[in-house]
Amino acid sequence: MAEQHNSYKIKVWRQANPKSKGEFKNYKLDGVSTDMSFLEMMDMLNETLVRKGEDPVSFDHDCREGICGSCAMYINGHPHGNVRGVTTCQLHMRSFPNNTTITIEPWRAAAFPVIKDLTVNRSAFDRIIQAGGYISVNTGNARDANEMPIPKEIADEAFEAAACIGCGACVAACKNASAMLFVSAKVSQLALLPQGKAEAQKRAENMVAQMDEEGFGSCTNTGACSAECPKLIGQEHIARLNREYLTAKVTSDFVK
Ligand code: SF4
Ligand code: FES
Repeated sequence: MAEQHNSYKIKVWRQANPKSKGEFKNYKLDGVSTDMSFLEMMDMLNETLVRKGEDPVSFDHDCREGICGSCAMYINGHPHGNVRGVTTCQLHMRSFPNNTTITIEPWRAAAFPVIKDLTVNRSAFDRIIQAGGYISVNTGNARDANEMPIPKEIADEAFEAAACIGCGACVAACKNASAMLFVSAKVSQLALLPQGKAEAQKRAENMVAQMDEEGFGSCTNTGACSAECPKLIGQEHIARLNREYLTAKVTSDFVK
């Protein structure tokens, strides 16, 4: 598609600090190239605000390559916008028709409090990872291919789960602010492979306990999480997490 330059009305959530009330503010932006990424459009908006002596809009970003999971924002009612399997940084302005309004909001969940504007505190996810999202022994260097036979379907499934970038869109999309898709991706990724299997049940118990402590809601299987996940993580991982968790609970009840 040939490059065009569009105009937009940008309606964005402004909130000076965690305690202030916050409100939507409207801005007009002209000359937005259809080849720009969404974050480049945000940079352009901020340059115009700075030139006028106004406070730029605060938003998180890092890799801008769809890898780090930082670029958390709701765009026109969808986490990361309405293009399936795409993060905000990989979204292009050609997805937005000329002369339309683009509404931008922060993730909304009690466990992700707003720091400023679109920037929210997602350190609850880090604490869940610290509760068990790792292998606690030294597994050595990367092995030669095929040294440890793993069926291809299992390797593919573990790889799919490992694609989770910890962005939090699943929480933002869920009416209960549940973190089950994120936790299940982390649990699945390790539970499927021999190195992670030994601690799979303990890991599930610890990560779920931390998830509950952080105040995320329960999963009611509505599927909004996987529908909005930019890495297309499927709900079958939630089923695996439930299995690991249940087995851990039944086993520990017998042990007591
Ligand atoms: S499961 Fe998907 S939406 Fe949730 S944190 Fe991982 S990548 Fe983001
Ligand atoms: S900025 Fe890293 S995933 Fe978007």
